[in-house]
Amino acid sequence: MEVLITGVAGFIGSNLADYLLSKGIKVVGIDNYDNFYSRAVKEQNLASALNNPNFSFYEVDITDSEGLNSVSFNGTTVIHLAAKAGVRPSIENPKLYVHNNITGTQTLLEWMKVKGIKNMVFASSSSVYGNNEKTPFAESDNVDHPISPYALTKKACELLNFTYFKLYGISSINLRFFTVYGERQRPDLAIHKFVKLISAGNPIEIYGAGQTGRDYTYVGDIVRGIEQAMALVNAPGPHYEIINLGNSSPVKLMELVNTISELLNTKPVLNYLPPQPGDVEFTYADVSKAAELLHFRPSTPLKTGLQNFISWFQATNTPKILPQK
Ligand SMILES: NC(=O)c1ccc[n+]([C@@H]2O[C@H](COP(=O)([O-])OP(=O)(O)OC[C@H]3O[C@@H](n4cnc5c(N)ncnc54)[C@H](O)[C@@H]3O)[C@@H](O)[C@H]2O)c1
Repeated sequence: MEVLITGVAGFIGSNLADYLLSKGIKVVGIDNYDNFYSRAVKEQNLASALNNPNFSFYEVDITDSEGLNSVSFNGTTVIHLAAKAGVRPSIENPKLYVHNNITGTQTLLEWMKVKGIKNMVFASSSSVYGNNEKTPFAESDNVDHPISPYALTKKACELLNFTYFKLYGISSINLRFFTVYGERQRPDLAIHKFVKLISAGNPIEIYGAGQTGRDYTYVGDIVRGIEQAMALVNAPGPHYEIINLGNSSPVKLMELVNTISELLNTKPVLNYLPPQPGDVEFTYADVSKAAELLHFRPSTPLKTGLQNFISWFQATNTPKILPQK
């Protein structure tokens, strides 16, 4: 079996690639080392995959159809994770997000159409729910009220995928991820920032009195959910589904901070700031559809997942002791 992963050098993509390679699946990876965060971090994410003979890598931008034509891929399934992520920067530069995420997805779908590749698993986001008042968030809820350009691009891509499904029979499973964390988490995300700053004794910024809540979901659970989505999209079809992948157990920001401090054995210094535009107040996934269609059962408790992240962070950021001459 051979799959193609876009955004393979990122946080979720590199964890997924390592997992699939460990199961003997061939992986073709695409990434343009987008400058949202450091190329060196992404190269480090890919270090073990690049040593695996079942992995091939293309430094290609998905908005570039000629670049895509240089990719050699003979499988049936694309796992499309490439995107500019991040809510706040999308408010500063919406044009860039619309181009990269929407035009990028459309260019990729066009390439799939021409190549006759019929199956896609797409990384959508809980941000499409905006400030949904009904909890938990279900796939049948109205999502016509995105509060950031990033969220808008994710909803637009779900719609693009539907159009290519109807017109050209490209099946897609659109997974709405809820705040993913774990080893290699993006440096802009709260858990990564908190661990880094608290470890160094620096203050952390708490937006909106710490009462916001997130359905933090461990990357190992997400990767297994993607694997199940690959199986579903390859089952006799056609398929178009939107499915939440979350932990279904929201955690208040202050509870998260206290758990991290406890694990680091360090008291945090808090700097309270007003809520940020574009940030939703609360996320909470209804995962009954994921349980039914993907047998998805998130099983990693927050403390375990945080400890895994902290161990990875400390191993990666501790200066290496040079051998004595
Ligand atoms: N991490 C989360 O909590 C979360 C939550 C919801 C949805 N998602 C979605 O999951 C996907 C992966 O997220 P992540 O946290 O691993 O982000 P990430 O930024 O670590 O990974 C995305 C990767 O895509 C690449 N990329 C961006 N634009 C590209 C382009 N035009 N061509 C080729 N490659 C490109 C980047 O270089 C990066 O390596 C994204 O689509 C994101 O929107 C993530």
